[in-house]
Amino acid sequence: MELPFAESYRIKMVAPIKKSTREQREQWLKEAKNNLFNLKSDQVFIDLLTDSGTGAMSEQQWAAMMLGDESYAGASSYYNLKNAIKNILGFEHFIPTHQGRAAENVLFSVLVEEGDVVPGNSHFDTTKGHIEFRKATAVDCTIDEAFHTELEYPFKGNVDLNKLEKVFAENDASKIKFIIVTITNNTSGGQPVSMQNIKEVSAFAKKKGVMLVMDSARFAENAYFIKTREKGYENKTIKEIVAEMYTYADAMTMSSKKDAIVNMGGFIAMRSKDLFDKAAVFNIMFEGFLTYGGMSGRDMNALAQGLDEGTEFETLESRIKQVEYLGNKLIEWSIPVQRPIGGHAVFIDADKVFPNIPKTEFRAQTLALELYLEAGIRGVEIGAILADRDPVTRENRFGGLEFVRLAIPRRTYTNNHMDVIAAAIKNVFDRRNEITKGVKIVKEAPIMRHFTVELERL
Ligand code: F0G
Repeated sequence: MELPFAESYRIKMVAPIKKSTREQREQWLKEAKNNLFNLKSDQVFIDLLTDSGTGAMSEQQWAAMMLGDESYAGASSYYNLKNAIKNILGFEHFIPTHQGRAAENVLFSVLVEEGDVVPGNSHFDTTKGHIEFRKATAVDCTIDEAFHTELEYPFKGNVDLNKLEKVFAENDASKIKFIIVTITNNTSGGQPVSMQNIKEVSAFAKKKGVMLVMDSARFAENAYFIKTREKGYENKTIKEIVAEMYTYADAMTMSSKKDAIVNMGGFIAMRSKDLFDKAAVFNIMFEGFLTYGGMSGRDMNALAQGLDEGTEFETLESRIKQVEYLGNKLIEWSIPVQRPIGGHAVFIDADKVFPNIPKTEFRAQTLALELYLEAGIRGVEIGAILADRDPVTRENRFGGLEFVRLAIPRRTYTNNHMDVIAAAIKNVFDRRNEITKGVKIVKEAPIMRHFTVELERL
């Protein structure tokens, strides 16, 4: 018979995790003000809050750490990373930062001014935050297909060229300096952007004389989907696809905590020496000197190795198949999820689970709380709380998707854990009609509120 799939690695080091009782979880949730970010990690059995910085490094990455060069300037670790970025991503210039949002902060200090408009595909919350903090506007140009969760469409992360055209038609050209394309599109469900779409957006940007910046946290997963779904790429290696993707970009911001499988780190890479020089000034102010910028030498070494491993087909296949394994179980049980299953997470459509709870009572947060109470599983709301208030009207933005994201850390949990997660979701789903009340906000920050929001269960 045909042999089933198995991961292309074995486990060498383990960390214990703890189960708890429902009574304990009720108490802890009360103490956490119904914000799952406030839980202690040992109050969580299976932690799906994020796939960011939570993966397991390889033995080669740990070995590379031991060779980290901690010189303040000109460390060999910096040059290792510079070579990896040049060889794998094709960029001549790069600036290390401590994580992805730091890369955004430094780059946007050069590129974003008050009154600017930044079109893109479902900007991630820190990206949007750094734009709105500078009194500029992020305009979402994601294709409409992304908003129909049951619809099977291979590249739901794509940018809608007509929406893009409209942004340029309606705004003063001097206000738009770049387009940002997020690969994969996290907020719409870890959905990929096709090479065709990247090419079209790049041609559009050139025609308009603006830059194309790629928010690249999950660029390798994006390449995996191009290889497995887009005609003409089936025989190309992930590294070949990655190299082609970046030929269309002028610059990239990177949160290395995802596809480069390190616990902390980020960078900006660019073609223009002029842009590098301008960003360098801010980097020295905010992050550190140009040859470390917020990272230690050992971390740069692990990142260089992680970029190489993370762009191997086997690494990606093991990871994405596990996410699919969980997602397909939920689909089998008719639990509404964003389809097809994305690269890094399963996104449950809470609007479809709890149509009886008013939208103003935050359906996705309610579902995330129920899932924690059920089995100590911590997911995250990607819905109206995360969307923040409109910076001008200060109204809640209830227009978008209401997801609970179950992000799967890389090389961390087994499929037995996936089975527990699926069963817990099924139990909550089966009693969904008994849950008729959501939550209300009692305290919130003016921007990026979901990290610190305090909530009351109604
Ligand atoms: N861009 C994308 C697409 C992201 O998903 C993230 C982080 C960032 C930028 C910011 O990077 O965390 O290193 O500062 N996403 C994490 C998540 C936090 O859970 O999805 P960072």
